[in-house]
Amino acid sequence: MALTLRTLTADGLAEFQRVLDSSFLHDSTDDELERWRGLFEPERHHAVFDGDELIGGGGIQSRDITVPGAGPQPVAAVTSVGVKPGHRRRGVMTRVMRAQLDSLHEGREAIAALWASEAAIYPRFGYGLAAEFSRLSVPRGAAFRRGVSTGGERVREVSRDEAMPVAKAVYEDVRPGRTGWLSRTDAAWDYHFADTERDRGGLSAYRYALHPQGYAVYRVKNDWQDRGPRGELHVRELVARTDEAFAALYRYLLDVDLVGELKFFTASDDPVVHLLEDSRLALRSRSDSLWVRVVDVDRALAQRRYQSDVDAVLEVSDEFCPWNAGRWRFTVKDGAATVQRVDDDPDVVLDVQALGAAYLGGTRLVSLARAQHVQEVTPGVLNALSHAFLGDREPHCPEVF
Ligand SMILES: CC(C)(COP(=O)(O)OP(=O)(O)OC[C@H]1O[C@@H](n2cnc3c(N)ncnc32)[C@H](O)[C@@H]1OP(=O)(O)O)[C@@H](O)C(=O)NCCC(=O)NCCS
Repeated sequence: MALTLRTLTADGLAEFQRVLDSSFLHDSTDDELERWRGLFEPERHHAVFDGDELIGGGGIQSRDITVPGAGPQPVAAVTSVGVKPGHRRRGVMTRVMRAQLDSLHEGREAIAALWASEAAIYPRFGYGLAAEFSRLSVPRGAAFRRGVSTGGERVREVSRDEAMPVAKAVYEDVRPGRTGWLSRTDAAWDYHFADTERDRGGLSAYRYALHPQGYAVYRVKNDWQDRGPRGELHVRELVARTDEAFAALYRYLLDVDLVGELKFFTASDDPVVHLLEDSRLALRSRSDSLWVRVVDVDRALAQRRYQSDVDAVLEVSDEFCPWNAGRWRFTVKDGAATVQRVDDDPDVVLDVQALGAAYLGGTRLVSLARAQHVQEVTPGVLNALSHAFLGDREPHCPEVF
């Protein structure tokens, strides 16, 4: 039977979600289905059918993402990509990727972004590794440097109902300045803080700590050992409008009794390490978070800002989206870029993955050159280009979508 692909309608969520849950090794439940409903944009979900049977698909959420220097910009947040085990390695996902990128070309979003279940999956479709997170672990009671101020305000443990409106307000205030952070509708908040058994993974329900200028959401886990309590405190999100509130919230979490370690999947440049008297107490290991796909080179490069002026002809290769392939004159003046198709000789040759990787300002083009994604033709231009692309801070995405 020939496979067909089409977008879904509102009543297609349940069947789609069953296939997706199963492909992610989860059992489908009504709770999980309801959790997805508020985020489900049927016309942006592509499904592949074998006859009448839905055998795979992928979705897009219409979100904004903060990009370097230019605040929130539209992003196609790619999500829910899965194929039934019996139909894998026959090009089903490739058809979904094809349909997604064709639908995005010259549309609302100039970039797409995703979290990958496995890092080898998406580079072939032009996604580049743009942001990483840090698995942070700090022992309870780790002292701050002398002179660190946590201010005079108290951190209070509050109910979810009290915490959520404050969390939303703080997040909205902070988001425009944090590269990689996504816009969240109320449905997105409900989804990400749903607190189902599946999310808890053997830990407690969410607990909420509020400071007048920030919040932390976390879980705890009991662990009693021969030498005493060694519980764990897992931070889900810690957001503060001020540096004092940031320090106060960390101090609060680091001082919770009966805990052995604080653990947090956090920004790769989380400043807590510089708050500690003994920075080595903060163990960190990095892993990929956001993969970015430049959908349309000219629109994407023009919508963010740059650190320094540069004028270079880029020769871009893009097998999956050939409309991007070719030479582009990329000129930055006072932080703003213009991008025009040209026939001039190239200064730098690169693949579209490299542009996606460098897009959020965290991955250096000079590093990508050493990894053979980028080739300098005109001496000196690569350093200038690499510097121009750098962001003010490491990109970070605080939620898996
Ligand atoms: C990942 C998944 C969606 C791939 O679907 P699929 O229909 O088998 O993929 P395709 O047949 O279109 O594969 C396209 C190419 O990607 C490769 N590929 C597919 N899955 C891969 C993986 N997990 N790791 C590395 N390469 C992979 C294929 O080998 C194929 O390569 P080729 O073109 O050189 O032959 C499917 O394996 C799945 O549902 N996995 C579990 C859920 C999951 O991880 N989803 C991704 C969410 S981010």
